[in-house]
Amino acid sequence: MKEKIEDILKQVREFQANNKEALEEFRITFLSKKGVIPGLFADFKSVAPELRKEMGMLLNELKNTVQEKVEEQLQKFESQNSNDAGFDMSMPANEMRGGRHPLSIVRRDINEIFEHLGFTIAEGPEIEDDYHVFTALNFALDHPARDMQDTFFIQKDPNENKPTDILLRTHTSSVQVRAMEKKQPPIRIIAPGRVFRNEAISARAHCIFHQIEGLYIDEGVSFADLKQTLYHFVQEFFGEGTKVRFRPSYFPFTETSAEMDISCNICGGKGCNICKHTGWVEILGCGMCDPNILIASGIDPEKYTGFAFGMGVERIAMLKYGINDLRLFFENDLRFLEQFELA
Ligand code: DAH
Repeated sequence: MKEKIEDILKQVREFQANNKEALEEFRITFLSKKGVIPGLFADFKSVAPELRKEMGMLLNELKNTVQEKVEEQLQKFESQNSNDAGFDMSMPANEMRGGRHPLSIVRRDINEIFEHLGFTIAEGPEIEDDYHVFTALNFALDHPARDMQDTFFIQKDPNENKPTDILLRTHTSSVQVRAMEKKQPPIRIIAPGRVFRNEAISARAHCIFHQIEGLYIDEGVSFADLKQTLYHFVQEFFGEGTKVRFRPSYFPFTETSAEMDISCNICGGKGCNICKHTGWVEILGCGMCDPNILIASGIDPEKYTGFAFGMGVERIAMLKYGINDLRLFFENDLRFLEQFELA
């Protein structure tokens, strides 16, 4: 009997139904009242007591294998059915149509450079609360710096700013806060995403655009690390020989704060419209994390230091490709899009 069961087990394992009818036949053969398995269970009664344990286990294994097989094959037919919309989704395409949007290309290339440095990608919600966008980043409730960014509010106390106000995030810096809340250092993340500001649409501004945020917190992180990281990014992205310079600036969540310029890659530094004849263009804001933001998110500023930076993806794409009107990114004009890399 043992050999017989093993033989059947082998057949069952190899079984592939060509269609639903064949599967049903298989099921009836094995599982119906007069089928093979109930038959074997009936024979089991006459098995010698010392063999019962082994035989019982084998029989159960056979029964389970048959049931699993029926399930598995049934699923196969069901998923095929749901694809029966008149085309075969698994068929290889003859020709790839379509390309990548320039903003996707730029975002992907920037992500890759930082991923090679050990940064991982982090995300946060686009609909945020005041706390993560402003308060935890050291914007006091009546701080004038809140006016730097024209916020779209979804739910706001009409008389005062509250950490519970609901709004569309105005920058990806909110993801810094979410990352610090989630995990103690070392933290090394970049956060690409959409941001929203109540601005009139023009060649230089839009109410929806994209940023990439970076945050690195660990023991002993210094301004030299910040400069070297961003310098490396610029060489990789804009090409070797691109110059950088840092200018002092102000952001509530960094101290020291800076803005970074690169030598204009359109005119090579000679002076053109894009760089307003200065030879330099600003590409990002950055700085050392203010101890207050570490404290707000439960990180000990005596032990850890960090740097952060944030850049606009549209701006970087405009510089990379020499595009002079930001609206082009959002209009989906094929004459524009077709000039970029195919997928
Ligand atoms: N969040 C700033 C903005 O939208 C950009 C920024 C500046 C991000 C400095 C940073 C930073 O992380 O350190 O204008």
